[in-house]
Amino acid sequence: MEKSRKNFTDLVDKAVAAANTLRRDELLFSYKGILYPVTLCSPEVFRAMESLEARSDDVILAGYPKSGTNWVGQILGDLVAIFEKKTQNEESRVNDEELEEFPYLEIGDTGKYERMNKQTSRRIMVTHLLPENLPSSVFKNKAKILLLTRNPKDLATSFYHFTNGIPTLPSYDTWDDFFVDFMTKKMPWGSYFEYLSEWNKYATCENVMTITYEELKENPVLGVKNIAAFFGIPLTEKELQTVVERSSFQSMKKNSQKTHGTFGNLFFRKGGVGDWKNLFSEDQNKKMDRAFEERLGGTKLGTKLKGVLYPAILTSPETLEALKSFETRSDDVILAGYPKTGTNWLDAMVSELESTDAKYTEEEMKERINAEKKLEIFPRLESGDPGIYERMKKLPSRRVILTHLPPHLLPPSILQSKAKDQVLGMKRIAAFFGFSLCEEDFPRIAKKTGFQAMKEKSKETHGKFGDILFRKGVVGNWRDLFSKAQNEEMDRKFEACLGGTKLAEKMKYDVYCKA
Ligand code: A3P
Repeated sequence: MEKSRKNFTDLVDKAVAAANTLRRDELLFSYKGILYPVTLCSPEVFRAMESLEARSDDVILAGYPKSGTNWVGQILGDLVAIFEKKTQNEESRVNDEELEEFPYLEIGDTGKYERMNKQTSRRIMVTHLLPENLPSSVFKNKAKILLLTRNPKDLATSFYHFTNGIPTLPSYDTWDDFFVDFMTKKMPWGSYFEYLSEWNKYATCENVMTITYEELKENPVLGVKNIAAFFGIPLTEKELQTVVERSSFQSMKKNSQKTHGTFGNLFFRKGGVGDWKNLFSEDQNKKMDRAFEERLGGTKLGTKLKGVLYPAILTSPETLEALKSFETRSDDVILAGYPKTGTNWLDAMVSELESTDAKYTEEEMKERINAEKKLEIFPRLESGDPGIYERMKKLPSRRVILTHLPPHLLPPSILQSKAKDQVLGMKRIAAFFGFSLCEEDFPRIAKKTGFQAMKEKSKETHGKFGDILFRKGVVGNWRDLFSKAQNEEMDRKFEACLGGTKLAEKMKYDVYCKA
């Protein structure tokens, strides 16, 4: 590690010394229509890069500058190093370290790629490049790519402070000047919006995993776990915890002089979310929202970055914060579904299956219903007051819990537990959760949870708005509302965000959504 960090700091020091002899307008050059710093990149190196022979076990981190690449680079380095320490002998590791290169793929000399071709697996590379500018072998040989994104406002803020602090990049007199260049594609490594929309085309590929700076910040344990699983690096809980601790902002900032040299403090500036509020004017804020919507609205990457809206009367930031402390039991029955996918129907069916399997006496059944009422448990995991999770601890097993949250916002205990969250046909649901029912139970439950039966009882079961919750319950009602243009727009969005994925196949879009 020592040796490779020295390579890093030496290269940065050399680039800074060279930059100090240049005028501001000499610091960047253009290659294939994109600007790069002359002290770090060159057309010759870009051409030489094509000779890199990518491997399927390569670990590639793709992220635009200031999206947190040094942070995630450290996570990947530690994951691989800890794994190799367990599986390799000391000698081969020392040799590999001697051969280690500057971590950013496009930065180095023309001989770098031939040397890299001789390195043993697993190689780790970081890159700020657009997908089409990567060596063709990366996609041909199906190297695994972790795509890191960050909300564009914090990213621009971070970039502004960085470009003004490091001599290799042009500095700006004012934030307003920087903002104009950021929005008009005059940044080194190109426009961030273009970067996101180009990479979005690869976001659903099997060998690409996407992660946002914000989700990793929110839940580093889960993030590190998912990254390790994606690259097929089996580590113990304790080892994963070590990786999380070593990559915390405080720990990386403390070490930054050693790992990143004179400019260490600049690489690890604030490490948070929301600093953009100290720089953006109202007008700039709106301009960026518009640009983001135009370029990325509805795409997979755009949706991931945008965050999620919730109804204010049902939940609150405090409840969502308290949710992190939710303790999952291994026998919890977790149902995940987006609003209006039929979650009330599914909830009724599964609750019915559960109570039939458990064969509660009438007394027990009453007790269960009363417990929920007395504890004021709202039947959605993310809804209610912040105290709901403390009260849920008092509910008897097996709890049937429904959620509309996407997986990356679920509390760690759910994703790490053995709780199950599948949506299948009734018999398969029963089998999946291990409910053993008699054959004659199924038609009875099917009748009870049929649309008509549930609609008739909806006032009783779901209150005043029961009628709205059980509206039509059919397939194809969209045809009464969609215009031709809206239909085509939705087809395009679905294809761009989900085309070719397992989920799309399962949803049978072509069967249910084609006019
Ligand atoms: P700020 O300038 O907002 O603080 P990159 O490594 O791609 O250049 O990105 C730099 C940004 O990532 C900086 O953002 C930096 O502070 C932040 N960062 C670096 N290490 C981090 C960590 N361990 N946790 C959170 N953020 C980190």
